[in-house]
Amino acid sequence: MSMQPGVCPAANEYDEDAIVNPSANPTFDEILAARLSRRVALKGGISTTAAALLGGSILSACGGDGGSDEAPAPAPAPAPAAAPKLGFTAVAKNKNDLVTVAEGYNVSILHALGDPMHYGDESWKDNGTETADSYNRRIGDGHDGMYYFGLSDAGAYQSDRSDRGLLAVNHEYVVAPYVLHAAGRSAGAARNAAEVEKEIYAHGVSIVEVKRTAGVMAMVRGSSFNRRVTSATTMDITGPARSNALLTTKFNAAGQQTRGTNNNCANGYTPWGTYLTCEENYLNVISRAAGDDALRSAKEVVSLARYGLPQNRKSPYLWETAGADDLYARWNSSVTGATAADDYRNTINTFGWVVEIDPFAPSSVPAKRSALGRFNHEGAWPAPAVVGQPIVIYMGDDSRNEYIYKFVSKAVWDAADVGKGMAAGAKYLDEGTVYVARFNADGSGDWLELTYGKNGLDATNAAYAFADQGDVLINARLAGDKLGATKMDRPEWGAVHPTTREVYMTLTNNSNRVATTATPTGSQLKPDAANPRYYEDLKGTTSQKGNPNGHIIRWRETTTDVTKLTWDIYLFGAQADAASDVNLSGLSDVNDFSSPDGLYFDKRGMLWIQTDDGAYTDITNCMMLAAVPGKVGDGGVAVAAGGTSTIKGANATADSVRRFLVGPKECEITGIAMTPDNKTLFFNVQHPGEETTPDWAAITFGSYWPANQADATVKKRPRSATVVITKKDGGDIGI
Ligand code: FEO
Ligand code: CA
Ligand code: CA
Ligand code: CA
Repeated sequence: MSMQPGVCPAANEYDEDAIVNPSANPTFDEILAARLSRRVALKGGISTTAAALLGGSILSACGGDGGSDEAPAPAPAPAPAAAPKLGFTAVAKNKNDLVTVAEGYNVSILHALGDPMHYGDESWKDNGTETADSYNRRIGDGHDGMYYFGLSDAGAYQSDRSDRGLLAVNHEYVVAPYVLHAAGRSAGAARNAAEVEKEIYAHGVSIVEVKRTAGVMAMVRGSSFNRRVTSATTMDITGPARSNALLTTKFNAAGQQTRGTNNNCANGYTPWGTYLTCEENYLNVISRAAGDDALRSAKEVVSLARYGLPQNRKSPYLWETAGADDLYARWNSSVTGATAADDYRNTINTFGWVVEIDPFAPSSVPAKRSALGRFNHEGAWPAPAVVGQPIVIYMGDDSRNEYIYKFVSKAVWDAADVGKGMAAGAKYLDEGTVYVARFNADGSGDWLELTYGKNGLDATNAAYAFADQGDVLINARLAGDKLGATKMDRPEWGAVHPTTREVYMTLTNNSNRVATTATPTGSQLKPDAANPRYYEDLKGTTSQKGNPNGHIIRWRETTTDVTKLTWDIYLFGAQADAASDVNLSGLSDVNDFSSPDGLYFDKRGMLWIQTDDGAYTDITNCMMLAAVPGKVGDGGVAVAAGGTSTIKGANATADSVRRFLVGPKECEITGIAMTPDNKTLFFNVQHPGEETTPDWAAITFGSYWPANQADATVKKRPRSATVVITKKDGGDIGI
């Protein structure tokens, strides 16, 4: 979902830029001051600590409990593959209402909002008259994170298959909800029930079979694998929070099941062949009544505030106003009954999870894997699995001032579990340890353990008395506060390099940073070493202050200590013509970008960077770039605009970062997957035309994409869609 610094959200869109972290964790600036004497050692390079860590062997997290005597011997590092070379001509920045891809490539549309996945439903009619029920069998809205799973002839997971697969796509939200209905959302205090039902089904995830025939990849309509998971689908709750009283609802008093996944932003995947979909801006659809605080315990009020749901808060979508049926009533997270089993006061606690879906078993029940913690989950990115070692998954909480986390499984990887679906998920994802990141100013970092009974995470915690491990996971943000985690500039996607195992994560922007000389008020933060820039960016006549262009942090870990990391900042987003202390990575016209969001390493180690921007959109639509990154420590110390010292990676060049495509008007480029043979690339265009209110009488929209991709004169409603890119000569993409 787009959210720009300094720009108010549309009336029907939850403000994902909202700040609900009032904790007094030290900022980097304070850490910096405390370690000033150590920073002298940083001159001209990285610190002694960082250098020592950099000199260590590459990560594999060993031993879930960190017990070095129990840790299995690290697997031998894969032989370093030759780095791929970018081999296309950079696409110029532009504001065309079109996907403009590098020369020599084809663009086709795989599927778009409303396309029927099965036979028996009519094709998209472009007039909003599709029935609500049919959206259980149609492609949803707001295409976002996705993954391609190779499909064998026998209908099982085949990781190396490229000509036949299952494509899982997140449908993050119903865009503005105007395109879905006949002429926008009906007026009135109570929502129209059929419209709400349609919106509920248009959220969630779609899984479709895709097949390549004569070089062309297309959806297989009617495949028995085609499936929708929506905001109404029944889900299991598994792991330490299962059966926790905080998850009791009228739908399931035992707290073992709930209904719906929504606001599924980015994603992950598992080595056993399942899809992970992540619940981000669920406050889009959750309301809370006036006067509700008085009916709650003090602890509940603290938790609700920390997760951004004050009393008397109406969601933008107002689904709860459409009727008394569970389908609608469950979105009112308020005390209305005698006990939690009589109402939906705990609805909010049933969202914010990582949900596992087995795409190969269309009737399987998805599972909310509580062991991975609850927050505004952007995504869940696994490190490459190593036999005999734990599964490691990196995660970000996308709100200003929130944290970066990782999960380390208790079970160690056994390659015999490939294809074992939800049973394998239960083995690896229901028991493990969550850590939250602290990035120190000297380039070192610490992973702090979120385990009940450790680090003060118990009933003695002053801000919130934790009752058990389920409580720690349900209230992971409050646990992160206690541990002194680092407040980041909105963590979006992560990606792990396939051979160096270094982890990259986008920090999209933060309008909440203030000058080092300012006195921060409320939740404002001064810059720090890992979020170092404070500057003013001009968009036309509009000024945006803080870190409007975002950056990409990266880190490496060691084989010897699961709790340590070494970081630098791989790239800073900036306009090419910005001052050198803003354009710290030396971006030029072939690779300048703003607000990185989607991020993906293909199997060759080529990094793909996608943008969801509102700061550079006076010059260009959102884009996707290809990059061949170096390693942590390949740059040095720099002083950012505003005067804060940081550690940056090597400068970008035209050979290391290059713009591959630019999207249509008012869109976000997000979601990316590639077939294992590197010959088909999928990406998503979300919310084209989002910023322009339709004129229903004149039938005008802010964008006419994707109908106009093949013929610029065709004018139809804008729709989120999955795009397929292939090379015209059938070759490997990007090189
Ligand atoms: Fe849905 Fe944080 O992007
Ligand atoms: Ca974003
Ligand atoms: Ca600008
Ligand atoms: Ca995103």
